[in-house]
Amino acid sequence: MFKVDNLTKRYGSFTAVDNLSFSIEKGEIFGFVGANGAGKTTTIKVAAGLLKADAGTIHVDGFDIKTDTRQVKKSIGYMPDFFGVYDDLRVTEYMNFYCGIHQIPLADREKTMDSLIELVNLSDKKNAYVDELSRGMKQRLCLARSLIHNPKVLILDEPASGLDPRARVEFKEIMKELKDMGKTIIISSHILHELSEICTTIGIINNGRLVAKGSVAEIQSKLNQLSRMKLRTIGEFSKASAILKEQPLVSEIIEANDYIEFSFGGEKQEKAELLKNLVQKDIQVIHFEETAGSLESIFMHLTQEEGEND
Ligand SMILES: Nc1ncnc2c1ncn2[C@@H]1O[C@H](COP(=O)(O)OP(=O)(O)O)[C@@H](O)[C@H]1O
Ligand SMILES: [Mg+2]
Repeated sequence: MFKVDNLTKRYGSFTAVDNLSFSIEKGEIFGFVGANGAGKTTTIKVAAGLLKADAGTIHVDGFDIKTDTRQVKKSIGYMPDFFGVYDDLRVTEYMNFYCGIHQIPLADREKTMDSLIELVNLSDKKNAYVDELSRGMKQRLCLARSLIHNPKVLILDEPASGLDPRARVEFKEIMKELKDMGKTIIISSHILHELSEICTTIGIINNGRLVAKGSVAEIQSKLNQLSRMKLRTIGEFSKASAILKEQPLVSEIIEANDYIEFSFGGEKQEKAELLKNLVQKDIQVIHFEETAGSLESIFMHLTQEEGEND
């Protein structure tokens, strides 16, 4: 239903999306996860027809964004990561305005607007001014707007960030309803756990490349997979190395100039035990951490709470 093939997008000499490929089946709720600056919005904007790719393409419902741009635009509903200012516009006026843009016949408008406003639980706010709605309500209104032309694929850029827990629950319920209606949904976020309850599939993007894709369970199990560790000590290199060699969870030890690198196949608790073990054997540890760029360090970044990461 949604297929990205070898997509590359540069801003000047900087490559924001780097030969990215993945596909999403009909009916999936796909979580597009990556730290700030990973390339999510850029990818989404190419799909929405707002940016042109430097190489590669995106197909939506079989249509190529490069050659069938109009059809692709008809097939997707796009909710951007910002919400504009709408002075003196009421909810129904806002929806009516976008119905006009999508050329919904006048005779169908009221029905279309009412059903969408109801879907996003804003029926009691129909006459409220848009600018007076809460953040969660504005987001839901924006969602209603992106559904006006009844698209098959819905792309939501960071919809959950900044929502309070209650608004998140409501958002999740709406996503379920849309899934039941047969929509294919793509939701981006810089926080992994924000999506783990909503999504059927997760794709992790880092520096414009896809580093992992799978079901939420598969992604979670990857969390516990092999990580690459770096150890620095004051002297006692060969002794530290010998201790590491005795550990069943440690493999591929490399002694560099002033540090030791090794792979570790255990979980957090076991990692802490290993450090304790080294210290108890009088190794003066000054540095013990995941090497940058390993899958786990990317996950660490993505599992931070909102706010810490911005
Ligand atoms: N218009 C632009 N000009 C130059 N660099 C940009 C522009 N838009 C985004 N970038 C850069 O491209 C990278 C990816 O950005 P973006 O797609 O917005 O990431 P994300 O949505 O995952 O946070 C970032 O390093 C960002 O600074
Ligand atoms: Mg973004």
